Amino acid sequence: MEKDIAKKLFSEEEILVRVKEVAAQIDEDYKGKHPTLIAILKGSILFYSDLIRNMKTDVVLDFMEISSYGNGTTSGNIKFIKDADFSVEGKDILLVEDIVDSGKTIDYLIKALALRKPNSIKVCTLLDKKEARKVPVEINYSCFDVGNEFVVGYGLDYAEKYRNLPFIGVLKEEIYKK
Ligand code: IMP
Ligand code: MG
Repeated sequence: MEKDIAKKLFSEEEILVRVKEVAAQIDEDYKGKHPTLIAILKGSILFYSDLIRNMKTDVVLDFMEISSYGNGTTSGNIKFIKDADFSVEGKDILLVEDIVDSGKTIDYLIKALALRKPNSIKVCTLLDKKEARKVPVEINYSCFDVGNEFVVGYGLDYAEKYRNLPFIGVLKEEIYKK
């Protein structure tokens, strides 16, 4: 897997330092609350598990699965695969994403969940690819900004590969421009 990486962006150690900072910030903001953290599968799982284990807040775990990419690297249609298990009504919802790119996925999810009348709904993302934004979305917590490049590792994939790389790096163009 490593040979397909053009450039390492964030090491395992750097990621953990930043995730702990964000976890502390979320703890501070949700004092006295019991938020439901909804992981958007599958890309966010490594981030999610590091985030929750570094939080002191009493949280409820839930999962949704959305697919916005086929096997390519550009946004396609959004496909709803798995809904949350628990009711969202009256809850403080924190959506946990791997990366916000065009913004379409998170915009779709926020709108869909807002209809279920949560008490609040916020977004926490590992990576923010600001330059690629097509739909304006408010991001409440973000670990790192990335440029308009295709990144993999620490949960993020290309064609379901590289998710278990412990660091985040830019994928060599030759891999997806074949
Ligand atoms: P959006 O709907 O365009 O914001 O896309 C969000 C989803 O696309 C993310 O949850 C990722 O699964 C995927 N994605 C976007 N950019 C990248 C990338 O650079 N590497 C891996 N997956 C990406
Ligand atoms: Mg994803």
